[in-house]
Amino acid sequence: MTAVAISAAERVALDAALAADRRLVEAALRRSLAPAPGFPPRLRRAMAYAVLGSGKRLRPLLLLWSFDALRTRSAAPRDEALTAAVALEMIHTYSLVHDDLPAMDDDVLRRGRPTCHVAFDEATAILAGDGLQALAFELLAGIPRRGADLVRIAAAAAGPAGMVGGQQEDLDAADKPLTGSLVRRIHAGKTARLIGAPLAMGALLAGRDAGTAAAADRAGRELGLAFQAADDLLDVEGATAVLGKTAGKDAAQDKATWVRLEGAAAARARTARLGRRGTLLLQKQLPSGPESARLLALVRLLWDRDR
Ligand code: IPE
Ligand code: IPE
Ligand code: MG
Ligand code: MG
Ligand code: MG
Repeated sequence: MTAVAISAAERVALDAALAADRRLVEAALRRSLAPAPGFPPRLRRAMAYAVLGSGKRLRPLLLLWSFDALRTRSAAPRDEALTAAVALEMIHTYSLVHDDLPAMDDDVLRRGRPTCHVAFDEATAILAGDGLQALAFELLAGIPRRGADLVRIAAAAAGPAGMVGGQQEDLDAADKPLTGSLVRRIHAGKTARLIGAPLAMGALLAGRDAGTAAAADRAGRELGLAFQAADDLLDVEGATAVLGKTAGKDAAQDKATWVRLEGAAAARARTARLGRRGTLLLQKQLPSGPESARLLALVRLLWDRDR
């Protein structure tokens, strides 16, 4: 089983399965953000607005499909994997809301519509991000038996040695000489940890041991490097209307990217190399079967995509 050239018929089946699980995730997100006593309506609307735009839902899909591929007889019910998937999408969305703030990337377009701070206001967007993160951890902590492990994995991936740390490095890079090790460190923190986490969390919920979860995490981190390399390429080569966010921002803000360091052609080759390496690492952890094949096809969309 080598990855992952698929036929037209397989592509149709893949798209249908992606759409079905996206709908499941989006319905669960909506339920988690329904009006509730003590939930200020403006804050709730801002959180729901940020979450319910046209996101690709890649992290929840990775979690659900790694759960499906690795499922053992001691697996949790799939509903618990769905809860964890929703929590990760909330953490990811919080990172986007804050990433777009004027103090950070200062973006006005996200998921095809005005960013949260433009649609609401800056203070509300900060609180909406805070609220999404807290709600995510409440959901994870409530998952029976594995809650504490899931909280630990998500917190480590989102925290100072993960996404938040990478975001700090991304900001600090403006004043530093651009090197490959700097770009790699930024991408490893701000993006790759939150691609490793869903694979690790899916493995744990599937009933696999900590060793398998750690190996899935390592594969995901490699794939996450490919994912961010692709994001940076799309910033240069993609169209705002397709991306749902403003193209050309990275050059305007002197962001540390592979494209800036080595040019688009080399960055494109690097993206594919990272993607293939991550795919091979993941493949080693998977049994053969249709769920694994489907996960590997999904993984290809991390780095081979137009939005
Ligand atoms: C964008 O993530 C931020 C990065 C880490 C590159 P996505 O490309 O997954 O954004 P959505 O969720 O589809 O909007
Ligand atoms: C963001 O990287 C990573 C996050 C932690 C949100 P980017 O700043 O490149 O993401 P986009 O291009 O705004 O989605
Ligand atoms: Mg950024
Ligand atoms: Mg940004
Ligand atoms: Mg970007």
